[in-house]
Amino acid sequence: MNNPAGKTPRKSRLAKKYGDWALVTGASSGIGRAFARQIAAAGMNVVIVARRERALDALRAEIEKHHGVSVRVVVADLTSPESTARILEATRDLDIGLMIPNAGMEITGEFISTDLAAQEDLLRLNILSPLELTHAFARQMARRRRGGILLLASTFAFQGVPYVANYAASKAYILHFGEALSHEMKRHGVDVTVLAPGMTRTEMPAKMPVDFSRIPMKSMAPEAVARFGLKRLGRQPVAVPGMMNRMFAFMNRLMPRSAPVNMFGGMLKKALKGEARLKELPRAEQHPASGGGR
Ligand SMILES: NC(=O)c1ccc[n+]([C@@H]2O[C@H](COP(=O)([O-])OP(=O)(O)OC[C@H]3O[C@@H](n4cnc5c(N)ncnc54)[C@H](OP(=O)(O)O)[C@@H]3O)[C@@H](O)[C@H]2O)c1
Repeated sequence: MNNPAGKTPRKSRLAKKYGDWALVTGASSGIGRAFARQIAAAGMNVVIVARRERALDALRAEIEKHHGVSVRVVVADLTSPESTARILEATRDLDIGLMIPNAGMEITGEFISTDLAAQEDLLRLNILSPLELTHAFARQMARRRRGGILLLASTFAFQGVPYVANYAASKAYILHFGEALSHEMKRHGVDVTVLAPGMTRTEMPAKMPVDFSRIPMKSMAPEAVARFGLKRLGRQPVAVPGMMNRMFAFMNRLMPRSAPVNMFGGMLKKALKGEARLKELPRAEQHPASGGGR
Protein backbone atom coordinates (compact mmCIF):
# COMPACT_ATOMS: atom_id res chain seq x y z
CA MET A 1 0.00 0.00 0.00
CA ASN A 2 1.38 3.40 -0.96
CA ASN A 3 1.80 5.52 2.16
CA PRO A 4 3.06 9.00 1.28
CA ALA A 5 3.35 10.23 4.87
CA GLY A 6 5.35 7.15 5.88
CA LYS A 7 3.09 6.52 8.86
CA THR A 8 1.42 3.23 9.79
CA PRO A 9 -2.32 3.87 9.66
CA ARG A 10 -4.38 2.59 12.58
CA LYS A 11 -6.70 -0.27 11.53
CA SER A 12 -10.26 0.37 12.60
CA ARG A 13 -13.45 -1.72 12.48
CA LEU A 14 -14.13 -0.10 9.10
CA ALA A 15 -10.74 -1.04 7.63
CA LYS A 16 -10.88 -4.57 9.06
CA LYS A 17 -14.36 -5.11 7.67
CA TYR A 18 -14.07 -3.48 4.24
CA GLY A 19 -10.36 -3.60 3.38
CA ASP A 20 -7.93 -1.04 2.04
CA TRP A 21 -9.91 1.17 -0.33
CA ALA A 22 -13.09 3.24 -0.20
CA LEU A 23 -14.72 5.44 -2.84
CA VAL A 24 -16.78 8.55 -2.07
CA THR A 25 -18.56 10.66 -4.69
CA GLY A 26 -19.37 14.29 -3.95
CA ALA A 27 -16.28 14.51 -1.73
CA SER A 28 -15.43 18.14 -2.56
CA SER A 29 -17.79 19.50 0.12
CA GLY A 30 -20.34 18.79 2.83
CA ILE A 31 -21.19 15.28 3.95
CA GLY A 32 -18.99 13.66 1.27
CA ARG A 33 -15.89 15.55 2.44
CA ALA A 34 -16.67 14.50 6.02
CA PHE A 35 -16.95 10.84 4.87
CA ALA A 36 -13.58 11.04 3.12
CA ARG A 37 -11.86 12.50 6.18
CA GLN A 38 -13.40 9.97 8.58
CA ILE A 39 -12.66 7.00 6.33
CA ALA A 40 -9.04 8.13 6.07
CA ALA A 41 -8.87 8.61 9.84
CA ALA A 42 -10.07 5.00 10.10
CA GLY A 43 -7.00 3.88 8.12
CA MET A 44 -8.52 3.29 4.67
CA ASN A 45 -7.25 4.76 1.41
CA VAL A 46 -9.89 6.70 -0.44
CA VAL A 47 -10.88 7.58 -4.00
CA ILE A 48 -12.58 10.97 -4.04
CA VAL A 49 -14.86 12.03 -6.91
CA ALA A 50 -16.49 15.35 -7.84
CA ARG A 51 -16.24 18.13 -10.45
CA ARG A 52 -14.16 20.71 -8.52
CA GLU A 53 -10.58 19.57 -9.02
CA ARG A 54 -8.97 22.20 -6.77
CA ALA A 55 -11.20 21.29 -3.83
CA LEU A 56 -10.39 17.59 -4.33
CA ASP A 57 -6.65 18.29 -4.60
CA ALA A 58 -6.75 20.33 -1.39
CA LEU A 59 -8.58 17.51 0.38
CA ARG A 60 -6.08 14.96 -0.94
CA ALA A 61 -3.15 17.00 0.40
CA GLU A 62 -4.85 17.47 3.78
CA ILE A 63 -5.76 13.78 4.17
CA GLU A 64 -2.38 12.43 3.05
CA LYS A 65 -0.62 14.78 5.45
CA HIS A 66 -2.78 14.02 8.48
CA HIS A 67 -3.70 10.37 8.06
CA GLY A 68 -0.87 8.76 6.08
CA VAL A 69 -3.19 6.97 3.67
CA SER A 70 -3.38 7.26 -0.13
CA VAL A 71 -5.96 9.40 -1.88
CA ARG A 72 -6.82 9.13 -5.57
CA VAL A 73 -8.68 12.03 -7.19
CA VAL A 74 -11.17 11.42 -10.00
CA VAL A 75 -12.64 14.53 -11.57
CA ALA A 76 -15.98 13.64 -13.14
CA ASP A 77 -19.36 15.16 -13.85
CA LEU A 78 -21.68 12.39 -12.70
CA THR A 79 -24.54 13.61 -14.88
CA SER A 80 -22.47 12.56 -17.89
CA PRO A 81 -23.22 9.08 -19.33
CA GLU A 82 -19.46 8.29 -19.43
CA SER A 83 -18.83 9.04 -15.76
CA THR A 84 -19.29 5.49 -14.42
CA ALA A 85 -16.92 4.06 -17.04
CA ARG A 86 -14.37 6.75 -16.16
CA ILE A 87 -14.55 5.87 -12.44
CA LEU A 88 -14.26 2.14 -13.15
CA GLU A 89 -11.23 2.76 -15.37
CA ALA A 90 -9.58 4.95 -12.72
CA THR A 91 -10.06 2.28 -10.03
CA ARG A 92 -9.37 -0.86 -12.10
CA ASP A 93 -6.27 -1.74 -10.05
CA LEU A 94 -8.00 -1.25 -6.66
CA ASP A 95 -10.23 -3.44 -4.49
CA ILE A 96 -12.94 -0.97 -3.52
CA GLY A 97 -14.45 -2.45 -0.35
CA LEU A 98 -16.53 0.53 0.73
CA MET A 99 -18.53 2.65 -1.73
CA ILE A 100 -20.52 5.77 -0.94
CA PRO A 101 -22.32 7.33 -3.92
CA ASN A 102 -23.04 10.50 -1.97
CA ALA A 103 -23.06 13.25 -4.66
CA GLY A 104 -26.43 14.88 -5.07
CA MET A 105 -28.23 18.04 -6.15
CA GLU A 106 -31.60 19.57 -5.43
CA ILE A 107 -33.87 22.00 -7.28
CA THR A 108 -36.33 24.12 -5.35
CA GLY A 109 -39.46 25.76 -6.74
CA GLU A 110 -42.81 25.03 -8.29
CA PHE A 111 -42.12 22.10 -10.65
CA ILE A 112 -43.71 23.65 -13.74
CA SER A 113 -41.54 26.79 -13.33
CA THR A 114 -38.26 24.84 -13.22
CA ASP A 115 -36.01 23.89 -16.11
CA LEU A 116 -36.75 20.38 -17.40
CA ALA A 117 -33.14 19.74 -18.52
CA ALA A 118 -31.93 20.52 -14.98
CA GLN A 119 -34.55 18.17 -13.53
CA GLU A 120 -33.31 15.44 -15.86
CA ASP A 121 -29.71 16.07 -14.72
CA LEU A 122 -30.93 15.70 -11.15
CA LEU A 123 -32.22 12.23 -11.97
CA ARG A 124 -28.90 11.31 -13.64
CA LEU A 125 -26.92 12.47 -10.60
CA ASN A 126 -29.22 11.35 -7.76
CA ILE A 127 -30.46 8.08 -9.27
CA LEU A 128 -28.62 6.84 -12.37
CA SER A 129 -25.09 7.43 -11.09
CA PRO A 130 -25.66 5.60 -7.74
CA LEU A 131 -27.50 2.84 -9.64
CA GLU A 132 -24.62 2.28 -12.09
CA LEU A 133 -21.88 2.53 -9.46
CA THR A 134 -23.75 0.16 -7.15
CA HIS A 135 -24.24 -2.34 -9.98
CA ALA A 136 -20.54 -2.33 -10.81
CA PHE A 137 -19.05 -2.29 -7.32
CA ALA A 138 -21.61 -4.58 -5.65
CA ARG A 139 -20.74 -7.29 -8.21
CA GLN A 140 -17.03 -6.95 -7.43
CA MET A 141 -17.80 -7.04 -3.69
CA ALA A 142 -20.05 -10.10 -4.06
CA ARG A 143 -17.20 -11.96 -5.81
CA ARG A 144 -14.93 -11.16 -2.87
CA ARG A 145 -17.74 -11.91 -0.41
CA ARG A 146 -17.23 -8.69 1.47
CA GLY A 147 -18.01 -5.00 1.08
CA GLY A 148 -20.16 -2.10 2.21
CA ILE A 149 -22.35 0.34 0.29
CA LEU A 150 -23.83 3.41 1.96
CA LEU A 151 -26.50 5.14 -0.12
CA LEU A 152 -27.69 8.71 0.54
CA ALA A 153 -31.43 9.36 0.79
CA SER A 154 -33.03 12.07 2.94
CA THR A 155 -35.89 12.54 5.38
CA PHE A 156 -37.59 14.05 2.30
CA ALA A 157 -37.66 10.46 0.95
CA PHE A 158 -40.44 9.38 3.32
CA GLN A 159 -43.21 11.35 1.54
CA GLY A 160 -43.77 13.61 -1.46
CA VAL A 161 -42.44 17.12 -0.78
CA PRO A 162 -44.06 19.97 -2.73
CA TYR A 163 -41.60 22.52 -4.20
CA VAL A 164 -38.76 19.97 -4.14
CA ALA A 165 -40.92 17.31 -5.79
CA ASN A 166 -38.34 15.74 -8.10
CA TYR A 167 -35.54 15.83 -5.49
CA ALA A 168 -37.74 14.17 -2.86
CA ALA A 169 -38.89 11.56 -5.40
CA SER A 170 -35.27 10.80 -6.34
CA LYS A 171 -34.48 10.19 -2.66
CA ALA A 172 -37.57 7.97 -2.29
CA TYR A 173 -36.12 5.88 -5.12
CA ILE A 174 -32.80 5.55 -3.29
CA LEU A 175 -34.59 4.63 -0.05
CA HIS A 176 -36.55 1.79 -1.66
CA PHE A 177 -33.68 0.64 -3.86
CA GLY A 178 -31.26 0.46 -0.93
CA GLU A 179 -33.74 -1.18 1.44
CA ALA A 180 -34.29 -3.96 -1.09
CA LEU A 181 -30.58 -4.37 -1.89
CA SER A 182 -29.77 -4.57 1.79
CA HIS A 183 -31.80 -7.79 1.86
CA GLU A 184 -30.53 -9.17 -1.48
CA MET A 185 -26.85 -8.61 -0.78
CA LYS A 186 -26.81 -10.33 2.62
CA ARG A 187 -26.19 -13.75 1.08
CA HIS A 188 -23.12 -12.30 -0.67
CA GLY A 189 -21.67 -10.89 2.54
CA VAL A 190 -22.12 -7.28 1.37
CA ASP A 191 -23.60 -4.65 3.70
CA VAL A 192 -26.01 -2.10 2.20
CA THR A 193 -27.44 0.73 4.30
CA VAL A 194 -29.42 3.82 3.31
CA LEU A 195 -28.52 6.95 5.26
CA ALA A 196 -31.45 9.40 5.38
CA PRO A 197 -30.26 12.71 6.87
CA GLY A 198 -32.48 15.60 7.77
CA MET A 199 -31.31 19.15 7.25
CA THR A 200 -27.50 19.27 7.36
CA ARG A 201 -25.33 22.41 7.34
CA THR A 202 -23.69 22.11 3.90
CA GLU A 203 -23.60 24.08 0.65
CA MET A 204 -26.83 22.38 -0.42
CA PRO A 205 -29.31 24.10 1.95
CA ALA A 206 -27.15 27.26 1.92
CA LYS A 207 -27.80 27.59 -1.83
CA MET A 208 -31.53 26.77 -1.64
CA PRO A 209 -33.88 29.72 -2.25
CA VAL A 210 -35.60 29.02 1.06
CA ASP A 211 -35.81 31.16 4.19
CA PHE A 212 -35.00 28.42 6.72
CA SER A 213 -35.82 30.72 9.65
CA ARG A 214 -39.45 30.00 8.71
CA ILE A 215 -39.01 26.25 8.95
CA PRO A 216 -38.95 24.64 12.40
CA MET A 217 -36.25 22.05 11.62
CA LYS A 218 -32.99 21.56 13.50
CA SER A 219 -29.94 21.13 11.32
CA MET A 220 -26.98 18.82 11.97
CA ALA A 221 -23.26 19.16 11.23
CA PRO A 222 -22.05 17.12 8.21
CA GLU A 223 -19.39 15.45 10.40
CA ALA A 224 -22.07 14.08 12.77
CA VAL A 225 -24.16 12.82 9.85
CA ALA A 226 -21.19 11.06 8.22
CA ARG A 227 -20.05 9.51 11.53
CA PHE A 228 -23.55 8.18 12.17
CA GLY A 229 -23.75 6.67 8.66
CA LEU A 230 -20.39 4.90 8.91
CA LYS A 231 -21.28 3.54 12.34
CA ARG A 232 -24.65 2.18 11.22
CA LEU A 233 -23.42 0.69 7.94
CA GLY A 234 -24.25 -3.02 7.96
CA ARG A 235 -26.18 -2.75 11.21
CA GLN A 236 -29.56 -1.66 9.76
CA PRO A 237 -31.06 -1.18 6.29
CA VAL A 238 -32.09 2.45 6.89
CA ALA A 239 -30.34 4.84 9.26
CA VAL A 240 -31.78 8.25 10.15
CA PRO A 241 -29.35 10.53 12.04
CA GLY A 242 -30.74 12.81 14.77
CA MET A 243 -33.45 12.05 17.34
CA MET A 244 -35.98 14.53 15.86
CA ASN A 245 -35.42 13.20 12.35
CA ARG A 246 -35.90 9.61 13.56
CA MET A 247 -39.09 10.56 15.36
CA PHE A 248 -40.37 12.28 12.26
CA ALA A 249 -39.57 9.28 10.04
CA PHE A 250 -41.36 6.99 12.49
CA MET A 251 -44.44 9.22 12.99
CA ASN A 252 -44.68 9.68 9.27
CA ARG A 253 -45.50 6.00 8.81
CA LEU A 254 -48.39 6.26 11.27
CA MET A 255 -50.02 9.30 9.65
CA PRO A 256 -52.26 9.38 6.58
CA ARG A 257 -49.92 10.03 3.60
CA SER A 258 -51.51 13.41 2.88
CA ALA A 259 -50.59 14.84 6.32
CA PRO A 260 -46.80 15.23 5.94
CA VAL A 261 -47.20 16.22 2.26
CA ASN A 262 -49.53 19.07 3.21
CA MET A 263 -47.36 20.03 6.17
CA PHE A 264 -44.20 20.33 4.04
CA GLY A 265 -46.13 21.99 1.21
CA GLY A 266 -47.54 24.66 3.53
CA MET A 267 -44.19 25.32 5.23
CA LEU A 268 -42.09 25.47 2.09
CA LYS A 269 -44.58 27.62 0.18
CA LYS A 270 -44.23 30.34 2.84
CA ALA A 271 -40.44 29.99 3.00
CA LEU A 272 -39.66 30.17 -0.76
CA LYS A 273 -37.65 33.26 -1.61
CA GLY A 274 -36.26 35.11 -4.66
CA GLU A 275 -36.84 33.47 -8.02
CA ALA A 276 -38.45 30.43 -6.39
CA ARG A 277 -41.43 32.47 -5.05
CA LEU A 278 -44.73 31.42 -6.60
CA LYS A 279 -45.67 33.47 -9.65
CA GLU A 280 -48.89 33.82 -11.58
CA LEU A 281 -48.52 32.19 -14.99
CA PRO A 282 -49.94 34.15 -17.94
CA ARG A 283 -53.39 32.73 -18.70
CA ALA A 284 -53.74 30.91 -22.02
CA GLU A 285 -56.28 32.32 -24.41
CA GLN A 286 -59.45 30.26 -24.33
CA HIS A 287 -59.71 27.75 -27.18
CA PRO A 288 -62.79 28.57 -29.29
CA ALA A 289 -63.99 24.94 -29.15
CA SER A 290 -64.00 24.93 -25.33
CA GLY A 291 -65.95 28.15 -24.77
CA GLY A 292 -69.61 28.47 -23.82
CA GLY A 293 -70.80 25.06 -25.08
CA ARG A 294 -72.87 24.27 -22.02
N1 LIG B 1 -27.52 18.95 3.29
C1 LIG B 1 -28.70 18.41 3.56
O1 LIG B 1 -29.55 19.04 4.24
C2 LIG B 1 -29.02 17.01 3.09
C3 LIG B 1 -30.13 16.36 3.66
C4 LIG B 1 -30.45 15.08 3.23
C5 LIG B 1 -29.68 14.46 2.28
N2 LIG B 1 -28.61 15.10 1.74
C6 LIG B 1 -27.84 14.38 0.71
O2 LIG B 1 -26.47 14.27 1.10
C7 LIG B 1 -25.65 14.18 -0.06
C8 LIG B 1 -24.50 15.17 0.08
O3 LIG B 1 -25.03 16.48 0.04
P1 LIG B 1 -24.40 17.71 0.84
O4 LIG B 1 -25.44 18.25 1.74
O5 LIG B 1 -23.08 17.35 1.39
O6 LIG B 1 -24.28 18.76 -0.36
P2 LIG B 1 -23.09 19.61 -0.96
O7 LIG B 1 -22.24 20.19 0.11
O8 LIG B 1 -23.74 20.51 -1.95
O9 LIG B 1 -22.23 18.51 -1.73
C9 LIG B 1 -22.66 17.94 -2.91
C10 LIG B 1 -21.49 17.19 -3.52
O10 LIG B 1 -21.92 16.60 -4.74
C11 LIG B 1 -21.02 16.96 -5.78
N3 LIG B 1 -21.71 17.11 -7.05
C12 LIG B 1 -22.77 17.89 -7.32
N4 LIG B 1 -23.09 17.80 -8.61
C13 LIG B 1 -22.20 16.93 -9.16
C14 LIG B 1 -22.00 16.44 -10.48
N5 LIG B 1 -22.77 16.81 -11.50
N6 LIG B 1 -20.98 15.56 -10.69
C15 LIG B 1 -20.17 15.19 -9.66
N7 LIG B 1 -20.33 15.62 -8.40
C16 LIG B 1 -21.32 16.48 -8.16
C17 LIG B 1 -20.44 18.30 -5.33
O11 LIG B 1 -19.15 18.49 -5.90
P3 LIG B 1 -18.79 19.41 -7.16
O12 LIG B 1 -19.66 20.62 -7.11
O13 LIG B 1 -17.33 19.68 -6.95
O14 LIG B 1 -19.03 18.54 -8.35
C18 LIG B 1 -20.31 18.11 -3.84
O15 LIG B 1 -19.11 17.46 -3.54
C19 LIG B 1 -26.56 14.45 -1.25
O16 LIG B 1 -26.90 13.23 -1.86
C20 LIG B 1 -27.78 15.09 -0.63
O17 LIG B 1 -28.94 14.88 -1.40
C21 LIG B 1 -28.25 16.36 2.13
